[in-house]
Amino acid sequence: MSDVVTSAIHEGIAVITINNPPVNALSPEVIDGLTVSIAAAQSDPAVNGIVVVGAGRTFIAGADIKGLDAMAWGAGEGAPDMHDALTLIEDGPKPVVMALHGTALGGGLEVAMAGHYRVAVPGAAMGQPEVNLGIIPGAEGTQRLPRLVGVEKAIEMCVTGKPIKASEALQLGLIDHIVDGDLAAGAVRFAREIATRSGPHPKTRERTDKLPSLEALPPLIHAGKELARKTRRNQHAPLAVVDAIEAAVTLPYDQGRVRERGIFFDLVKGEQSKALIHVFFAERGVSKVPGIPKDAPVAAINTVAIIGAGTMGGGIAMACANAGLTVQITDTTAAALETGLGRIKSNYDTSVKRGRFTPEAVAERLGRIHTQVGYEGVAAADLVIEAVFENMALKKQVFAELDRVAKPGALLATNTSTLDIDQIASVTARAERVVGLHFFSPANIMRLLEIVRGAATSPETLATTLSFAKRLGKVGVVVGNAPGFVGNRMMFPYMYEAQFLVEDGATPEQVDRALTDFGMAMGIFAVDDMAGVDVAWRVRQELNQFSEPGARKPLVADQLCEMGRFGQKTGRGWYRYGDDRKPIPDPEVLSLIEETAKAAGIQRRSFTPEEIIERTIYALINEGARVLEEGVALRAADIDTVYVNGYGFPAYRGGPMFYADRVGLEKIQGRVSQFHRELGDRWAPAPLLARLAREGSTFRQFDAERARQAA
Ligand code: 3HC
Ligand code: NAI
Repeated sequence: MSDVVTSAIHEGIAVITINNPPVNALSPEVIDGLTVSIAAAQSDPAVNGIVVVGAGRTFIAGADIKGLDAMAWGAGEGAPDMHDALTLIEDGPKPVVMALHGTALGGGLEVAMAGHYRVAVPGAAMGQPEVNLGIIPGAEGTQRLPRLVGVEKAIEMCVTGKPIKASEALQLGLIDHIVDGDLAAGAVRFAREIATRSGPHPKTRERTDKLPSLEALPPLIHAGKELARKTRRNQHAPLAVVDAIEAAVTLPYDQGRVRERGIFFDLVKGEQSKALIHVFFAERGVSKVPGIPKDAPVAAINTVAIIGAGTMGGGIAMACANAGLTVQITDTTAAALETGLGRIKSNYDTSVKRGRFTPEAVAERLGRIHTQVGYEGVAAADLVIEAVFENMALKKQVFAELDRVAKPGALLATNTSTLDIDQIASVTARAERVVGLHFFSPANIMRLLEIVRGAATSPETLATTLSFAKRLGKVGVVVGNAPGFVGNRMMFPYMYEAQFLVEDGATPEQVDRALTDFGMAMGIFAVDDMAGVDVAWRVRQELNQFSEPGARKPLVADQLCEMGRFGQKTGRGWYRYGDDRKPIPDPEVLSLIEETAKAAGIQRRSFTPEEIIERTIYALINEGARVLEEGVALRAADIDTVYVNGYGFPAYRGGPMFYADRVGLEKIQGRVSQFHRELGDRWAPAPLLARLAREGSTFRQFDAERARQAA
């Protein structure tokens, strides 16, 4: 018998258990084991019914993504053909009950839908998240799902990739019963009851009751494609999955499944799936930090104290309260606390209006947030996160006090975006427990958390904050303690290059359009207006940027600040803003740019979108190569994770470093060298970029090499 699939008979029911940790992915061994066990149970006269259940924390979480990755790069078979296994399950005379807990995702849900019945625990979730990997279901999911839940819901699930909970699944008819208590026992009871009924048991693929007529289909398909275009801009898989679902209605089952398989294979070999699979593993790779074993001890974090009830403090408080933690917010005055709490409440009100939370869930969260002037409440905290003004003297004063009042084992974190963690840690007697936790605004929404490692930060502190990030539902990326860390350090050359481009002849709107067409969530000028044009102004002064002799300085940004055009908060920045906060190109800014360029003797010309992308994105990549070489980022894949989760870089391009690999480092290096000759020293190629290009290598290979050395 196979190790990963075992079978035992309970009260006349064969219980087939899949045990392939960590998530029971559908490896070839699992599929073989399942096939053998199902066939044996079908032919065993002592068996009246069959239950399939997952061992450990979940049912089957899908095809093995490592196999898909190999296939995307032209090696291996990828997702094995499941057709024979699924037909064996569905065509057998004895009822097969799929017992779901944890997640039944992708190929996991596809297996479940081939069963005659499905039962689940209340906390189970089911979905077809393949679009997140740039593919569509490849084991007949696009054909069976609409037969169980209808075309409209199937499209929604497959296009968004979002799983649904057991209660909704029951209502839709995706599952037949919810089991309270022990799943396997409940499933066996259900199977015994079903086995007493005369067959045949329902075969999903033969059902047509939920499929629409051919006349009713076109508007559903049209709406599905609109949803795909709107929610998954520029991506192929979400549109293609609608085509596959359409085939479930327009073609006989067997032709529909063949069509699905054809689309699946085309997509898995495409660029977007390579990139999205890279992002999947990159996000999970960030928690693997050399020197910190997977089972490193982590301190329990139950209570978090937050110092400063401003924009960031409030957002961090919400992120913690949403994760079930107790929060104590401190500020200097009762008025500051009241304003801060007011902002938190109004943000929660918006969430209720948008249907994200129920009023009860909000009340529960608010019940976990406590406020107090002074540092008294800090003593109870396992973790303190400081989010006061960005000022070193103030932060040192706060940390000295925190070190005095916090309990000895508590971790002290700063949310600074620019300051030196080691200097902050130096005023405490627990530098090993001091760390940067750089949240991104709005902190309750943005997934990225840069975890800044100081010279003395201990492995246990890092392990604890990595696990804390996960608890908040965030992606924690460990970065070095250098100005701007990873994200902002790379953003500056990118942002300033965009500003030089407009001085050289492009408009902010043209630059932003080229960037959003490329896939960026927002254009860089819109970003600057949102963050505050004055924020970068202050950073320019603090970090003493552009101090090298002969360095080209951006001219217009300073003038905007002098005019009080700070961006969205003043209604004007690079753009004008109305009530809807949509950027409106402003002729006043265009004239300012033209006059400034003229006064500086700049010869203006027009730029193609391609040139705009090269000037901006290649600046990002070149700086990324420096960040990597200096060890501020541990891996190119970490940089990609930072940019995809914190800066709106399109996941379907894999992040800036992955994108660079796909363009080809030789080509990037060639353009960077050309810009260096034409535009000056700010474009000096990063030595690592030059070396990898010369060697015909990639950042992906660089990561693999570093991992080999660390092993
Ligand atoms: N294949 C291979 N490895 C997988 C995997 C999969 N389908 N799903 C998760 N893993 C691995 C992760 O890489 C990670 O490995 P690591 O510990 O070495 O880093 C480990 O399992 C745990 O994963 P998470 O850290 O993500 O654990 P969580 O508990 O946070 O989440 C999960 C669990 C919800 C199952 C999440 O891992 C997930 O969403 N997985 C992907 C599910 C998916 O996309 N399924 C569809 C696959 S495509 C498919 O099925 C095609 C089919 O139609 C033919
Ligand atoms: P903010 O100005 O909105 O809030 C700061 C709060 O700290 C105020 O409520 C103030 O009263 C309080 N405060 C000042 N001194 C204090 C003290 N001694 N004790 C307790 N509270 C005190 O500032 P914001 O934007 O929330 O920034 C906070 C920190 O987060 C800064 O270090 C900033 O660089 C960083 N950051 C800001 C981001 C942003 O987008 N705003 C993004 C990431 C980091």
